Amino acid sequence: MPAQVPRLQIDNLSRQYDGRLVVDDISLAVMPGQVTCLLGPSGCGKSTTLRMIAGVEVQDAGIVRVDGEVICDGTARVPPEERQIGLMFQDFALFPHLTVEGNVAFGLAGPKAKTQARVAELLDRVGLGHFGKSFPHELSGGEQQRVALARAIAPRPRIMLMDEPFSGLDNRLRDGIRDETLDILRDEDTAVLLVTHEPEEAMRMADDIALMRNGRIVQQGAPYNIYNAPVDRDAVAFFSDINVIRGTVRGALTETPFGHFLAPGVQDGSAVDIVIRPQHIKIDFDRAGRGPNPTPQDGTPARGVVQRARFMGSESLVEFRMDHDGSILKATVPNVFLPSPGKALWLMLRRDRCFVFPARA
Ligand SMILES: Nc1ncnc2c1ncn2[C@@H]1O[C@H](COP(=O)(O)OP(=O)(O)OP(=O)(O)O)[C@@H](O)[C@H]1O
Ligand SMILES: [Mg+2]
Repeated sequence: MPAQVPRLQIDNLSRQYDGRLVVDDISLAVMPGQVTCLLGPSGCGKSTTLRMIAGVEVQDAGIVRVDGEVICDGTARVPPEERQIGLMFQDFALFPHLTVEGNVAFGLAGPKAKTQARVAELLDRVGLGHFGKSFPHELSGGEQQRVALARAIAPRPRIMLMDEPFSGLDNRLRDGIRDETLDILRDEDTAVLLVTHEPEEAMRMADDIALMRNGRIVQQGAPYNIYNAPVDRDAVAFFSDINVIRGTVRGALTETPFGHFLAPGVQDGSAVDIVIRPQHIKIDFDRAGRGPNPTPQDGTPARGVVQRARFMGSESLVEFRMDHDGSILKATVPNVFLPSPGKALWLMLRRDRCFVFPARA
């Protein structure tokens, strides 16, 4: 079988502002019907990347291809309106003087009956079948956003670029709309590049996540892999709270009050950071020091005193001050436990869930 051509492919895209590289040598590919998320903190270059692909901004270097065809490089440039790329941005603007139907039909060419059928189909799918004759100002914010989605999808773009398109919606509305949006886009085999700074949104929506920092992609892969095999401490921290335990390597092992940890490939005598998420710390609630059903993966129990415990709904977040060095560790526990400040408990690290990185200065 011949290798499939990516719907969208960008190679070595870069952009400077005032001598500062804000997009630095970015490459990625999105297949038809797939969703890739650009995920990263504010200012890391996500929107700039999207704007270059859309063609509303010109890159300093790099190539954008759609279905294998170059649409912009150092010399040639297909104008934005001819790229068959749909755009959905946070600050979407509907045309106030057009009805909902008029808005959705705006970019559609062809016979009227066909256009009307397409508009009706999409308004039904986004749950606005009865609002066709309404004007934007008669709709709620969420309804307007759904109109904007229908409008962006209507011309069947080959690629959809979405920049935080759901951030204005309340949580419950958002879950429904983003699932429905992705269903529609997948049905139409559109390649989607979605920008967000929320890890939950990225994991929920993306087949592939490109984690960005300072204009670069630092890691790319399926959500499962990025979450479970992060490249560095910041990549762990981007997805959850973290605890960091400093250790020193002696003969490929690091000894800590929580037991020893493997540190393969790290030079003898150098410092490492053992990083663990709060949900992977085990707490002994019953039997002081013997641990809750310890497995071979659990390290040695160490004692800590509860400083704060916060009830968070499905779980509780507990902060401990550790006896051995006074450091603070955070652990999440099932919501049936809410230990009182001052209580001493024993903590263990799930060694299979620890990440060991060379220590950061
Ligand atoms: N037209 C411009 N002129 C100068 N600097 C710009 C311009 N557009 C963006 N920048 C800068 O480039 C960097 C990247 O901006 P960009 O909008 O791509 O970030 P972002 O990742 O989308 O952030 P956010 O999550 O806040 O939207 C920022 O530091 C921004 O200030
Ligand atoms: Mg942005």
